[in-house]
Amino acid sequence: MGARLVNFKFNLNPLDYFWGAFSLDLGVDLGTANTKIAVCGKGVMVREPTVVAAHKKTKQLLAIGSEAKKMLGKTPASIIATRPLRDGVINDLDFAESLLKHFIHKVHQTPTSFPKIPRPKIAIAVPSGATEVERRAVSDAATAAGAREVYLVDEPMAAALGAGLPIDEPKGHMIVDIGAGTTEIAIISLGGIVVSKSLRVAGDEMDGDIISYTRARYNLLLGEKSAEESKIGYGSAYPARKESKLQISGRDLATGLPVAVTTSTGEIREAISNTLRTIIEGIKDVIEESPPELVNDVAQEGIYLTGGGALLKGWPALLAKETRMPTILAQDPLTRVVKGTAKVLEDDRLYRKIKFAGSLR
Ligand SMILES: Nc1ncnc2c1ncn2[C@@H]1O[C@H](COP(=O)(O)OP(=O)(O)OP(=O)(O)O)[C@@H](O)[C@H]1O
Ligand SMILES: [Mg+2]
Repeated sequence: MGARLVNFKFNLNPLDYFWGAFSLDLGVDLGTANTKIAVCGKGVMVREPTVVAAHKKTKQLLAIGSEAKKMLGKTPASIIATRPLRDGVINDLDFAESLLKHFIHKVHQTPTSFPKIPRPKIAIAVPSGATEVERRAVSDAATAAGAREVYLVDEPMAAALGAGLPIDEPKGHMIVDIGAGTTEIAIISLGGIVVSKSLRVAGDEMDGDIISYTRARYNLLLGEKSAEESKIGYGSAYPARKESKLQISGRDLATGLPVAVTTSTGEIREAISNTLRTIIEGIKDVIEESPPELVNDVAQEGIYLTGGGALLKGWPALLAKETRMPTILAQDPLTRVVKGTAKVLEDDRLYRKIKFAGSLR
């Protein structure tokens, strides 16, 4: 192994190195909507909502992940169920740390409960547009959650690695990762990001668009969960051959009482159209700013789509029409970033390449 293993931090005590020897190497994607953890050499072991529920006053934790997500919007005054990330970056450091700690312990659980105190080496993805302060918060949360070494990987680079692209070739590859809080757009060549854009607009924004639309059109207040469900079930980026009707339920803003209205897939598409346009414009900007040789490569190979937001029906068709380039939806797009972060720790040669090119800190 290379010099990277000698990444001593003087604030660690010798016991940390002892437990570290028995701990796993982990790739982590602390996403705005979902946290994913991949154990190096084993694969993705955690895929849970980034939600924490706690007692409001004492901050005592009640639930983390899917259990906590069920509580969102349904808690009494003494309990808070909250999402500790917003727009791809940490919004509540304490809760982000608790969530990471919980999942780190979960992947280390063995029948013998050994190691007792996991001290893993962690590669964690951060949005390419995150500020130094935001990066520092991610690194601090991981360290406080038990990591003995932390590597920050730029999210589009992690997505490209996870999608299996040969990123170290002198050839342009384009990746678009649409998550819940951010859309990462990048052209990569020779192990580095040549041009990128990190938009703080993605799946959450589309849910907000649907809420605003039904409020304005039907005077109906829709919850975030229902808005997300209608997006996933009936949302689309491109007209389908057969449009369908759907019923959505919420609260009538005039009477305050429950009400159901009939809307259509076309209306849901109209509701999210501005957000889709922002993403398309971002993609076009990145193409425009890229050197022509790399754009030629992308035109031949196609644009790779990753992230949960890329699952919106008709995205590849809309993008292909707008950019006149082939588009490829990665298989299991939600886990591409986390798989890429694990690869960084698994493959020494890759590690050195992307470190040299500046996508790893
Ligand atoms: N079939 C689908 N159609 C449309 N959107 C979907 C679908 N499945 C999941 N999503 C959306 O994908 C988003 C979650 O994706 P993902 O887990 O990649 O985000 P994240 O990594 O948590 O967020 P970020 O990368 O922005 O921090 C949510 O907004 C969710 O509503
Ligand atoms: Mg993500």
